[in-house]
Amino acid sequence: MQPLPGFRDFLPEDCARRNYIFARWREVARRYGFAEWEGPPLEATELYKKKSGAEIVEQLFNFTDKGEREVALRPELTPTLARVVAAHEREFKKPLKWFSVGQFFRYEKQQRGRLREHFQLNCDIIGEKDLAADIELVALCIDILRAFGLTEKDFVVRISDREFWTDFFHDKKVPAERWDDLLQAIDKSAREPRAKTAEKLGDLADPVFAMLKSGGKSAKLKQLVEGLRARGLADFVAIDVGIVRGLAYYTGIVFEVFDHAGKFRAIAGGGRYDNLISQLSDDALSLPALGFAMGDVVLGELINEIPRAREMMQKAIANDSNVDIYVVIAKEERRTDALAQIQQLRDRGYHSDYPLTPTKVARQFQAAEDLGARVALLFGDEWPQIKMKNMATGQQELVARDKLLDRLAEFL
Ligand code: HAM
Repeated sequence: MQPLPGFRDFLPEDCARRNYIFARWREVARRYGFAEWEGPPLEATELYKKKSGAEIVEQLFNFTDKGEREVALRPELTPTLARVVAAHEREFKKPLKWFSVGQFFRYEKQQRGRLREHFQLNCDIIGEKDLAADIELVALCIDILRAFGLTEKDFVVRISDREFWTDFFHDKKVPAERWDDLLQAIDKSAREPRAKTAEKLGDLADPVFAMLKSGGKSAKLKQLVEGLRARGLADFVAIDVGIVRGLAYYTGIVFEVFDHAGKFRAIAGGGRYDNLISQLSDDALSLPALGFAMGDVVLGELINEIPRAREMMQKAIANDSNVDIYVVIAKEERRTDALAQIQQLRDRGYHSDYPLTPTKVARQFQAAEDLGARVALLFGDEWPQIKMKNMATGQQELVARDKLLDRLAEFL
């Protein structure tokens, strides 16, 4: 009777919370002029082998399909986006600003904040190499979290630049073949024992640790923070060269969002991947690109943790799910008249409910209350008048059936 490990059942309340998150995601992405798109949930395994990096390939839900194709449930959207953009870019003016909301699958060890399926909002800008796009993207990420009632006291965007590290490797004359492994080691350094990281870094351990400690200097990162300062968003970010990101394709600015208290895993992460489209299209097309993804799991945990955000969510869900009108059938002879009325109310767009089978009047009022109905309409002895009860105040009035819709329009 249990779902598979790391998979969730969404009961109505869970769906309401999920839809609340999706609604804010879509609202703010559209406010920034992003257009929604979607890709398939299943892709050729090759797509991820080519560029996502070793960690994600180990976590693939993959199999051979009945046509002998090697396929995988998508662990992330970025390779699909690069594939789709390479195929369709001529149809669109640049830069493209696209967002998507969908489900992703990674065969990870189940732990707090990490499941085997999760939903992500992905926002990507394709075809703009200027830092203005990086600033816009980080601002969007911040504004999305602000839309949940979260403030600079609740979360921080940690910003870094992979070029900062590749320049450092250049200086130290590290051969390019070692860069990927070194970046992975730096990425994990905050979560792993120092000795383990030191072993992976080898001869570079001391200078890398020194750099992580001192923080390093980067004119580009400073400029990015200034761009956010101009929008009043500088308090939401911190420069942290320890952020490198696990995925292999990033080339420039990278960032990850964490809760301020440091209790949870990353809420969101992203960055620039200027070479991915040319790599996936075998150099047929080259377009600079950047984006981020925000997951629903950690975000949901954080909303629950912060009272302001939790109340905002509960209010929005209550507003969304309440029934407007409950029809009380006090006399079964009136059921036909009541059903005709309910049909009319629903055609008008009112959320209306009623008892499917004969039910005691007191229980019907209880149902009206449980459903959060604002009005109860009683079909009984008063017919052809209808008794209308304001559920909040308890006030009642008699309304002629032909005046009912007008009276409700005033009231609701
Ligand atoms: P990512 O950092 O792998 O980036 O995932 C983004 C977010 O998805 C994470 O910060 C986390 O909130 C959520 N997430 C990832 N894995 C899990 C999991 N197993 N369970 C729950 N939540 C999870 C990417 O996926 C990049 N493709 C983002 C991107 C878009 N880069 C450029 N454009």
